[in-house]
Amino acid sequence: MNQTLQIQQHHRSIRSFSNEPVSDEMLAQIIAAAHQAPTSMNAQEISLIVVRDAEHRTKIAELAGRQAHVAQTPVFIVIVIDFNKTDIGMRKAGNTQIIHESMEGFGVGAVDAGIVLGTLITAAESLGLGITPIGGVRHDPQGMVELLDLPPLTFAMVGLCIGHIAHDAPVKPRMDIKTFRHDERYDASGYSAAIDAYDKTIMQHWQNVGRSDGTPWSTSLAPFQSVYYPAVRPVAAMQGLLNDK
Ligand SMILES: Cc1cc2nc3c(=O)[nH]c(=O)nc-3n(C[C@H](O)[C@H](O)[C@H](O)COP(=O)(O)O)c2cc1C
Repeated sequence: MNQTLQIQQHHRSIRSFSNEPVSDEMLAQIIAAAHQAPTSMNAQEISLIVVRDAEHRTKIAELAGRQAHVAQTPVFIVIVIDFNKTDIGMRKAGNTQIIHESMEGFGVGAVDAGIVLGTLITAAESLGLGITPIGGVRHDPQGMVELLDLPPLTFAMVGLCIGHIAHDAPVKPRMDIKTFRHDERYDASGYSAAIDAYDKTIMQHWQNVGRSDGTPWSTSLAPFQSVYYPAVRPVAAMQGLLNDK
């Protein structure tokens, strides 16, 4: 197995970072890797906001639902869907942008943001750094708009903590790979049995790592009973990402 595959198959989120700063050179390399990531139609409608200032990070930690690791991490990167950039390009060519008002547009932005997120993760982990993605930036999206001066047609989709690891975390087991890889056609026939088995596996994992608050996977999905970040739709709409087409 090559080194990249080893790193990817050893991924675990880190929520405890040391005070050691991430060097400018490391950060530039990580961002250069994500800069070359593919985007739909080469739209390049993703922008990164690099937040290193401690006070700034503390504010984001609060907005993200008081996530201590966001305040502790030396580098926090906000991944922004940026249809403002494409709008400027389209206006130059005398065209009018509509895509940002559609479900397709939100999907395109979310996919491309995810590719950038994954690329940043592999790059940072390849340098021995720890990471945690932070969907919590959507907890108070209006707060993020104000804090980061986000103009219309932009939306903070996800964030990423990057730092040197203080306390390492164990690799979290996944559900049977047969529930992930489907050959030729979708097949959910093994899901129930695999979920039963995984509920047991994850409970054993929580016990192994001393987490008495751990729950079975099926129970941990309880937040899916509601829209857990309900401000996304109205704030995205206020930013012009109407999602009505
Ligand atoms: C898009 C995305 C958003 C996430 N948001 C958060 C978050 O706000 N806070 C957090 O502590 N972890 C967050 N996570 C980390 C997940 O909880 C973690 O990836 C998952 O439990 C699997 O654990 P592992 O990464 O250690 O394998 C997020 C992960 C992803 C991919």
